[in-house]
Amino acid sequence: MKAQQTELQDLPPGLKRELLPKHVAVIMDGNGRWAKRQGLPRIMGHKRGVDALKDLLRCCKDWGIQALTAYAFSTENWKRPQEEVDFLMTLFQRVLRQELREMVEENVQIQFVGNLNALPRSLQEEISRSMAETKDNRSIRFTVATNYGGRQEILQACRAIAQKVQQGLIQPDEIDEAVFERHLYTAGIADPDLLIRTSGEMRLSNFLLWQMAYGEFYITETLWPDFDRVEFHRALCAYQQRERRFGAV
Ligand code: IPE
Ligand code: IPE
Ligand code: MG
Repeated sequence: MKAQQTELQDLPPGLKRELLPKHVAVIMDGNGRWAKRQGLPRIMGHKRGVDALKDLLRCCKDWGIQALTAYAFSTENWKRPQEEVDFLMTLFQRVLRQELREMVEENVQIQFVGNLNALPRSLQEEISRSMAETKDNRSIRFTVATNYGGRQEILQACRAIAQKVQQGLIQPDEIDEAVFERHLYTAGIADPDLLIRTSGEMRLSNFLLWQMAYGEFYITETLWPDFDRVEFHRALCAYQQRERRFGAV
């Protein structure tokens, strides 16, 4: 296992290291509105959104947050105009290719979750390569949800388990939370402690339905391309004020 290559930075004022979330998830929303406000086509918002995600990944790494999961494309986003979908797929592929070397150098482990088989073949190849080349990296675990849907994830887990039952590999009463979680796309990744959604929408939009059972929500009006370290600091401060009870008193 590689040693952690970068020193952790001091945390900005008001944050306590022992109360940092271990895993942060983000619904990167508002790219289109950001572009519209600037008088630009929607796709320019997506391009700027990539910069915001790169900054957030670096920030999580600098501050010692162990895992970041970002919602890049939902199973419902295929309903968008074909040009926008095509642009996004090309963008994902280009960014992956451009950023892979730096992720390797920075000791980032990248993973993808979702129905990856339905993505363009060339993007699937880039995804496989990036996951293989970073699999032993340990500075931060970076998960990108692409063609991801929480309901689809749960359904495919049910199908996989049902098949094992049919083959006699598992008994129905052996199916518990641990068994179920091992069949989700996110198997082996701890649940998010904090989910941030930008652009003010107050919904999950089919993201991490199972995993967010006890995650904390933080919603900001800021549009995704404008989400920066100052905003992230604010979100973490809010999170550190929360009392997580998990059903107890
Ligand atoms: C989120 O921004 C990015 C993706 C869903 C890929 P949107 O494109 O949803 O931006 P708005 O919500 O239209 O402003
Ligand atoms: C959620 O945003 C999906 C991603 C950020 C990838 P949407 O913009 O697609 O969500 P809705 O349609 O407003 O619920
Ligand atoms: Mg949106």
